[in-house]
Amino acid sequence: MTEEKAKLIMEEISKRFEKINDLKELNDYKVEQLGKKGKITELQAGIRDAVNKKEYGMLVNKVKNHFNELYEEKMKLLEEVELKKKLESEKIDITLPSKKIRRGTKHPMTLTIEKIEDLFVSMGYDVVDGPELETDEYCFERLNLPKDHPARDMQDSFYITEDKLLRTQTSAVQARYMKSKSEPEPIRIIVPGKTYRRDDDATHAPQFGQIEGLVIDKKENNVSLADLKGTLEIFARTMLGDDLDIRFRPSYFPFTEPSYEVDVTCFKCHGKGCNLCKDTGWIEVFAAGMVHPNVLRDNGYDPEVWGGFAFGPGWDRITMFKYGIPDIRLMYQNDVRFLNQFDRKDD
Ligand code: DAH
Repeated sequence: MTEEKAKLIMEEISKRFEKINDLKELNDYKVEQLGKKGKITELQAGIRDAVNKKEYGMLVNKVKNHFNELYEEKMKLLEEVELKKKLESEKIDITLPSKKIRRGTKHPMTLTIEKIEDLFVSMGYDVVDGPELETDEYCFERLNLPKDHPARDMQDSFYITEDKLLRTQTSAVQARYMKSKSEPEPIRIIVPGKTYRRDDDATHAPQFGQIEGLVIDKKENNVSLADLKGTLEIFARTMLGDDLDIRFRPSYFPFTEPSYEVDVTCFKCHGKGCNLCKDTGWIEVFAAGMVHPNVLRDNGYDPEVWGGFAFGPGWDRITMFKYGIPDIRLMYQNDVRFLNQFDRKDD
């Protein structure tokens, strides 16, 4: 091997590398040169017969190094090209239209509660919560309904133990709230909450919702029946129509004296008479009354000093009236075809 010959081989190698365009070709060429029977491998073997072994060895090494250098260079280049191609083919096309996200709507009962809360907060009431698993004491006894009281029959209850039950009325929170005060102080609260009874038909569900209202103040401040009437009038007009009237009918609840059922002008026929109001022109919406002295006394408020009113409509009923929903069960079935009909805009 002469210097001249080595130069020629190297030029040939350079030219060949220029033509190589992918990694497979590159690998094939490596086998062709450095494999068991590769050309450079054979040149290396030729050292045995060389006259000037030192010079021969140097020249073969030069050829080999030249090959390796170009090989590394090409390898790097091709790998970069390959990576670029891969990235290009896997690129996410963010210009594609996205999948449509379905926007949910608030449940009609949520819309009702929110509206009622807004109204009462604007009148200076606090919104208060209480436990759904209640004791007999707070659900009944502290509301002037002792153990053997016949009015307990009006509320078919779910007892968990002898003295624990799913509360049948949010009125329980009246007692809880009064009792929570270390010293009597004026109260103005609403209590929206779930309540439970053993009822199940088109107008009664075993779980339903009530919004208790309680206002108590010193007698000298004259919280009267007129205030109760005014409050319920605003309530009815805000929720069901601003041209409506209300009327009080005497009724009985153990925790109020006097007690009333409160009717609202039929919002469908405006008092003329229709199938909804059964031709009476009125629809019963509220139960209410002046807080019974026994309830005040049993919960730490002296009835000689303090007085006030309470009311307790069902929010399911108000929601059904507001949106014309014919069956209470629709509201608990979570059918999206039903729920989609309620949007914030028709609130
Ligand atoms: N808690 C009663 C019920 O569920 C409704 C009620 C009546 C609540 C009169 C009151 C009230 O606050 O004053 O039947």
